[in-house]
Amino acid sequence: MTGKRNLRHFVTVADLNDDEVGRVYQTAAETKAHVKKGLHTNALAGRTLGMIFEKPSMRTRMSFETAMVQAGGHAIDIRGEEIGLGKRESVKDVALVMSRYVDAIVARTFAHRRIEALARYAEVPVVNGLSDYAHPCQALADVFTIREKLGSLDGVHLVFVGDGNNVARSLAMLCPRFGMKFTLAAPKGYEFDTAFHEKLAKTLGFDPDIRAARDPRQAVREAHVVYTDVWASMGQESEAEKRKQLFRPYQVNGELMRNAPHGALVMHCLPAHRGDEISDEIIDGDQSIVYDQAENRLHVQKGLLFFLLGVEEI
Ligand code: CP
Ligand code: NVA
Repeated sequence: MTGKRNLRHFVTVADLNDDEVGRVYQTAAETKAHVKKGLHTNALAGRTLGMIFEKPSMRTRMSFETAMVQAGGHAIDIRGEEIGLGKRESVKDVALVMSRYVDAIVARTFAHRRIEALARYAEVPVVNGLSDYAHPCQALADVFTIREKLGSLDGVHLVFVGDGNNVARSLAMLCPRFGMKFTLAAPKGYEFDTAFHEKLAKTLGFDPDIRAARDPRQAVREAHVVYTDVWASMGQESEAEKRKQLFRPYQVNGELMRNAPHGALVMHCLPAHRGDEISDEIIDGDQSIVYDQAENRLHVQKGLLFFLLGVEEI
C-alpha cells in the first residue's frame, strides 16, 4: 500500500501539476494502444480499488472497474446508503478502515466537502468520482480526447453551453493550463460565481482566458469544441422543470451548430437527455465525439491509477 509520505489524491484537477497530467496522458495513450492490440498488463496485480457511490453512475463505475481488471487488479463498489457515510459511521472511520483493505478509493458524493474529508483521513489515494462541485476525472479524460482529435491544445477554444456545473468547473480549471480558451454560455444565475473565478486565478497563478456569454449563438462562433451537459445535475431533480424552460435556448442542436465553424467538435460527458440539452441529430451526427470521449475515461483513469499507485512500467 502507498506510504502516507508519498500519498497523493485527485480531488480536483489542481491536484496534478502539468507534468503529472502529461505523465498520466502518456500512460493512457500507451495502455490504450496496448488494449487495442488485445494485450493486458499485470501492473496492478493484487491491487484493489474500493468505490463508494452516493449517486448513480454507469461510466465512472464501469470504467474504473474495467481499468483495474484489465491491469490485473480488482474493484469493489458499494452504495453510499449501505455505508451510511457520516450517518451510520463517520467519514473518518470509513476512510481509515477502507485504507486497511484497499489500495485506492474512488468516491462519488453529493457534497464536495465529503470527498475532501475522505482525502484528509485516508491513508491511500482518494479519487473524486464526481461531487456537486467537481468532476475531475471527466475533465482529465476530455482534454486527452481533445488532444487526440485535434493534435494539439494550444489556442483550442472550448465553448460550454448550459449550466456552470461540476463538469464545466473542472474543464475551466484544466483547459487554460494547456493554452486553451474556455467560454461558458449560460443563462443568468447559472454562470460561475465570482469566488470561483478568484479562486481559479489564484490556483493557476495566472489570469486564465475564461469568458462568460449569454447568447449561445454568438458564443459558438469561434468554437473548436462545443460541450454540453444536463441542465439539472444529480441532486437538482426538483429544479428540473424550471430549468427546462430557462435553458431551452441553450439546446445544442443543428440550428445552434450552424453558427459554429464547420467541423467544430461536439462533446457531452453523458448521460445525455436527448431532446433537452442536445438534439438527436447532433449527438448522432458527424461532429459528435461523445463515445470516444466516454471510452477515454477508461484509458485516462487507468493512467491516473498507475500514477497514484506508483506504477512505472505498464
Ligand atoms: N460521465 C459520467 O461520469 O457518467 P456516469 O454518471 O454514468 O458515471
Ligand atoms: N453534471 C452532471 C454530470 C453527470 C456525469 C451531474 O452531476 O449529474
